[in-house]
Amino acid sequence: MKFFIDTANLDQIKEAQDLGVLDGVTTNPSLMAKEGITGAQNIKDHYVKICELVEGDVSAEVISTDFDGMVKEGEALADLHPQIVVKIPMIKDGIKALKYFSDNGIKTNCTLVFSAGQALLAAKAGATYVSPFIGRLDDVSTDGLALIEKIRLIYDNYGYETQILAASIRHTMHVIECAEIGADVMTGPLSSILGLLNHPLTDIGLEKFLADYRKGNS
Ligand code: G3P
Repeated sequence: MKFFIDTANLDQIKEAQDLGVLDGVTTNPSLMAKEGITGAQNIKDHYVKICELVEGDVSAEVISTDFDGMVKEGEALADLHPQIVVKIPMIKDGIKALKYFSDNGIKTNCTLVFSAGQALLAAKAGATYVSPFIGRLDDVSTDGLALIEKIRLIYDNYGYETQILAASIRHTMHVIECAEIGADVMTGPLSSILGLLNHPLTDIGLEKFLADYRKGNS
């Protein structure tokens, strides 16, 4: 399972990268705004900074909602750095843009996916990644993990190569359950990655090992 971090915060990206288990980064306009990154050029510069911090794919989202605009914007984003993956919203022109980029060898991430039908369309259009938002489904009393299961089944039925990127991950159990289901990638906040470290028996066990070592070597 690939681990992506879902943030535009450079310190957090660096902390995850330094851990040695990071495979990529996802961002969106809200995450950029949260870091105070505004203006087209500043946003582009920030994408390049992120690419220089990590080794894997970095999703950069288009703002246009029409085909021509998405193609122009996506091509400019893809030209910024070889690690850029163009993030396209799940709308009608977005499907056309996914097909265009797929035909032209540019990696894509289809975002704002909330149903199996949307995920099927994204795969048929040749998306590299599909991003079902599981946390936001849970927020409206709908089972986000059940959607990941359905998409896994559909993609496996037909051998679609689109990777399931479980997005809007909120906590460690989302990560673990997505891994059990077989999501290809998860993207979540740093806390959802670091939280996987925690177990009180590990802390108690380590404390005892170190105390016993000190007793034997004092
Ligand atoms: O990757 C999707 C993500 O950015 C949305 O997450 O927590 O805003 O639902 P959230």
